[in-house]
Amino acid sequence: MHILLTGGTGLIGRHLCQLWRGQGHRLTVWSRNPEQVAKLCGSDVRGIARLDEIADDDTLDAVVNLAGAPIADRHWTAARRTLLWASRITLTEQLLSWLGRREQRPAVLVSGSAVGWYGDGGERELTEASPPVKEDFASQLCIAWEETASRAQALGIRVVLVRTGLVLAADGGFLSRLRLPYKLGLGGPLGDGRQWMPWVHIDDQIALTDFLLQHNDASGPYNACAPEPVRNREFAKCLGRALHRPACLPVPKLLLKAGLGELSTLLLGGQRARPERLLAAGFTFRFNDLQSALDDLSSRL
Ligand SMILES: NC(=O)c1ccc[n+]([C@@H]2O[C@H](COP(=O)([O-])OP(=O)(O)OC[C@H]3O[C@@H](n4cnc5c(N)ncnc54)[C@H](OP(=O)(O)O)[C@@H]3O)[C@@H](O)[C@H]2O)c1
Repeated sequence: MHILLTGGTGLIGRHLCQLWRGQGHRLTVWSRNPEQVAKLCGSDVRGIARLDEIADDDTLDAVVNLAGAPIADRHWTAARRTLLWASRITLTEQLLSWLGRREQRPAVLVSGSAVGWYGDGGERELTEASPPVKEDFASQLCIAWEETASRAQALGIRVVLVRTGLVLAADGGFLSRLRLPYKLGLGGPLGDGRQWMPWVHIDDQIALTDFLLQHNDASGPYNACAPEPVRNREFAKCLGRALHRPACLPVPKLLLKAGLGELSTLLLGGQRARPERLLAAGFTFRFNDLQSALDDLSSRL
């Protein structure tokens, strides 16, 4: 297969490239820095700066759309919100308008999203049939991202929307940021620690993306998180255990709100999300239980 990726140089994209290169697929990554692509994604992965570098007669089988500026890295100032929006929604619009101009179109578009689509769900169990619970900037961003990607259906393309939870990996993402405070013994729950944290091991995230890409009857939204979400305080305890460090220093809610503004909603809210549609489709998670996922990754952290 010839697979085009956006965001292919990111955490999830790099792991996907590793899997699909191993399976012999041909990969093209649309990137702001195409010269970095071979180094980050593999020597035989082609980096392109513009979509029209792919010739009209070059058959494309699938597109995986993951590009987006990191959502939790900086304050959500007006400029940052504009960038977060443009890097997902405007980029996806550009992708669709290019696909619309092509005669030969891919069979499937697997497009990124997040469990943040639901907003802060409180205690409610969330499946793909649930509506958004409490809209905030992050959920509006995901809703618009999914709506934009879904327009590819009108082009005859199967569209899969991957509502990803917190991806646990040893080589990037959320865990890499927690490593230092936890190793210094400064880890602990955020706020009262009761908020739900849907998480997914990177190996499962890669396997489920591949599963959804390959299954011709998969379409629409899929919660990409392990079947057993935990509360934030349980997460802190498990990570402390995996790193052999105490994790009992809570970070006060007021401090997070004062320091991070609306971005604190990402940390103080949560989703008790269940991967109902993936389980119904026959996908098996390798890591169901958080402690086993963290123990697996901790030696590489
Ligand atoms: N990791 C998680 O826990 C998680 C959870 C839920 C949802 N997601 C979503 O899933 C997607 C992939 O996640 P990830 O962790 O692999 O992301 P990542 O490591 O942050 O990589 C995202 C990629 O997006 C591109 N990008 C960054 N800033 C951009 C900008 N301003 N304009 C255009 N492109 C930009 C970059 O590619 P180039 O530098 O090559 O252009 C980058 O490699 C993201 O959109 C993320 O929001 C991730």
